[in-house]
Amino acid sequence: MRAIRTARLASGERVPVVGQGTWRMGEDPAARRSEIAALRLGIELGMTLIDTAEMYGEGGAETVVGAAIAGRRDDVFVVSKLYPQHATKKALVAACERSLRRLGTDRIDLYLLHWRGDVPLRETVAGFAELLRAGKIRHAGVSNFDVADMEELARVRDGVRIAANEVLYNLLRRGIEDDLLPWCRRRRLPIIAYSPLEEGLLSHRDHPALGRVAVRHGATSAQVALAWLIRHPGVIAIPKSRHPARVRENRGAVDLQLSKRDLDELDESFPPPAGPRPLETR
Ligand SMILES: NC(=O)c1ccc[n+]([C@@H]2O[C@H](COP(=O)([O-])OP(=O)(O)OC[C@H]3O[C@@H](n4cnc5c(N)ncnc54)[C@H](OP(=O)(O)O)[C@@H]3O)[C@@H](O)[C@H]2O)c1
Repeated sequence: MRAIRTARLASGERVPVVGQGTWRMGEDPAARRSEIAALRLGIELGMTLIDTAEMYGEGGAETVVGAAIAGRRDDVFVVSKLYPQHATKKALVAACERSLRRLGTDRIDLYLLHWRGDVPLRETVAGFAELLRAGKIRHAGVSNFDVADMEELARVRDGVRIAANEVLYNLLRRGIEDDLLPWCRRRRLPIIAYSPLEEGLLSHRDHPALGRVAVRHGATSAQVALAWLIRHPGVIAIPKSRHPARVRENRGAVDLQLSKRDLDELDESFPPPAGPRPLETR
């Protein structure tokens, strides 16, 4: 098994190009053990970037992550997100404190505004600056921001370096390729691709093009879908699974090299955008 390739944050720090998502974890007490075990397995396999949010299970997912990283905090890069209604300077600091408690840690590695709400960006940036100064977060970033949002943010940045933008991106959702992806690439700003398997849809074996490419490589459709995403420089995929076999399968995507023929076939079945379109979100 090859070591997981890394993407570089603006700070120079490197994170694995395949991490782990946690949406829908922490909602069902009966699933807690398997969720913790799946995340731990993922960490052992090198998928040490873990994405969570105060929204997921209303704090339940952060608690699951806290249990999974206990005793191995330094091996993990924790990403969490705050609700837009908590994006004022004061509420943001309080939301971060709550997340830190649930995660059982003294710092969040990357703290994201989950999506844009009504709070002026300069307030949020001021909150990020305070948390960065206090060492409670190590990097600040955003999620579900389109190019116009990113440009506005760049104008109010106030000394805070934005480390990443987390957006919906997969073979079926290629809209960002026309504008946001090149915009971020020019600035060496990583994109964290959420729902990389379109919530599991892209793992189905019945899609002809995915299936054909997968068979050629002795791989699975999910691995092809993930390998396609992470071949873009600066793109990080965060598939979520609570099943060990699927966690291993998703990790295996890193070892898959797609050829020009594979990429052409995938383009034919999952065409790139014909022009600019509004950013898609969940
Ligand atoms: N920033 C945002 O607004 C935002 C929005 C949505 C998601 N996210 C983040 O992105 C992460 C990933 O997105 P997602 O959870 O929406 O969807 P996803 O990762 O595309 O797909 C997850 C679903 O696919 C299944 N699955 C995973 N690996 C599989 C495999 N190899 N074969 C077959 N099925 C597989 C999982 O089921 P099992 O668990 O049962 O295996 C789950 O139902 C989230 O968990 C969350 O952390 C962020």
